[in-house]
Amino acid sequence: MSSPELLFVNAAQVVTAAGPGVARRGRAMSELECLTDAAVAVRGDRIAAVGRQRDLQAQFPSANHVDCHGGVLMPALVDSHTHAVFGAPRAAEHEMRAAGMDYMDIAQRGGGIHASVRDVRTRDEEELVSFARMRLRRLASYGVGTIEVKSGYGLSLVDELKLLRVIRRLASELPVRLIPTFLGAHEIPLEYRDSTARRREYVDLVIHDMLPIVTREKLAHFADVFCETGVYTVAESREILAAARAAGLSLKLHADELTASGGAELAAEMQATSADHLAAISPAGIDALGSANTVATLLPATMLFLGKPTQAPARRMLDGGLAIALASDFNPGTSPTVAFPIALTLGVSQLKLSAAEAIVAATVNGAAALGLAHEVGQIAAGYSADLALMAIRDYRELPYWLGARLCRGLWTRGKACDVHDLDVS
Ligand code: NIG
Ligand code: FE
Repeated sequence: MSSPELLFVNAAQVVTAAGPGVARRGRAMSELECLTDAAVAVRGDRIAAVGRQRDLQAQFPSANHVDCHGGVLMPALVDSHTHAVFGAPRAAEHEMRAAGMDYMDIAQRGGGIHASVRDVRTRDEEELVSFARMRLRRLASYGVGTIEVKSGYGLSLVDELKLLRVIRRLASELPVRLIPTFLGAHEIPLEYRDSTARRREYVDLVIHDMLPIVTREKLAHFADVFCETGVYTVAESREILAAARAAGLSLKLHADELTASGGAELAAEMQATSADHLAAISPAGIDALGSANTVATLLPATMLFLGKPTQAPARRMLDGGLAIALASDFNPGTSPTVAFPIALTLGVSQLKLSAAEAIVAATVNGAAALGLAHEVGQIAAGYSADLALMAIRDYRELPYWLGARLCRGLWTRGKACDVHDLDVS
């Protein structure tokens, strides 16, 4: 039996973002193909053709029509950085920061990531699955078809494995594509902080106990480390990333989030797929990423939520020829939002990207930040049929309507996901 065919018709604009299946760098980020009078044909799980509506209607006479009702059809968004598996919110810390305490002060006193770790350790897999299912569905309902999800609130062998199993279960259950990342090096757990020898023991635990099981059970595609003053040093991060790579994982790095600590340079040196945050990146860090294949993933909602005055120097990064992705950083401490388009809004208003650059950052380059630039992030023949229909007439409205949920239809691998159903808890 031949695969079912769909023909998407009557879109005001079809934003294809089509181009080479690699990260778009520097000036090329402003190249966003946007077609009018166009249709998209899908056969099975693949995009079969993009072209003039009249031509495709003749070419696919028996396809079922999907009426886009004058909206914008675009590649499903790619959120390439989330910490979506956690238990309780951390609203008290939000007020503590307003009263003058810093994010790192709160962590030093055993709050922050440590608070989420204490909480996650008391919960079983089932409970974490139900929290994360609800949150990931809500995120998807904004038109997000691919989501990276990190562990990192377990920080013990059993608890890190528990979080990765939660991600695996949801990856097989949810219609969206989930990409798992092992972040056992998210913090030094409190019980390993009383001496340098104990600290070393935890690094060894990550390298020698956690990594082998994570890779043997194929629980993660990426490994990540929080490289930051007061958390993991560059030397520790290098060691953990090298072990992860040797074990067969691809690499990401929380780099230069709060202080310029050489994280971007390390990500480039280790050929990480992405270096994330970069709000405090140094000129040397920009140079290093400029001559590497590492995507710079920027998370503007984080700095906004923390009340920090700084943001990553996105324009300088583009001048240096970097590829920028935008992601939500969805997590209970620094970015408690599933409204991914807010990252695009901030991409324009805070990072000074054009709407076209912001959309490329959340599609083509988000996909590249997950090693998936040949598979998702574009509407082009041969790509996975991952599409989002937005209730707007002009793609510039996607970053414009601050906080709105504009998605009226989401398809992944050629199958419709009921967006309203996605938002049901
Ligand atoms: O990306 N910086 C490290 N990790 C998260 C925050 C995690 C938390 O505070 O719970 C981030 O900002
Ligand atoms: Fe993060």
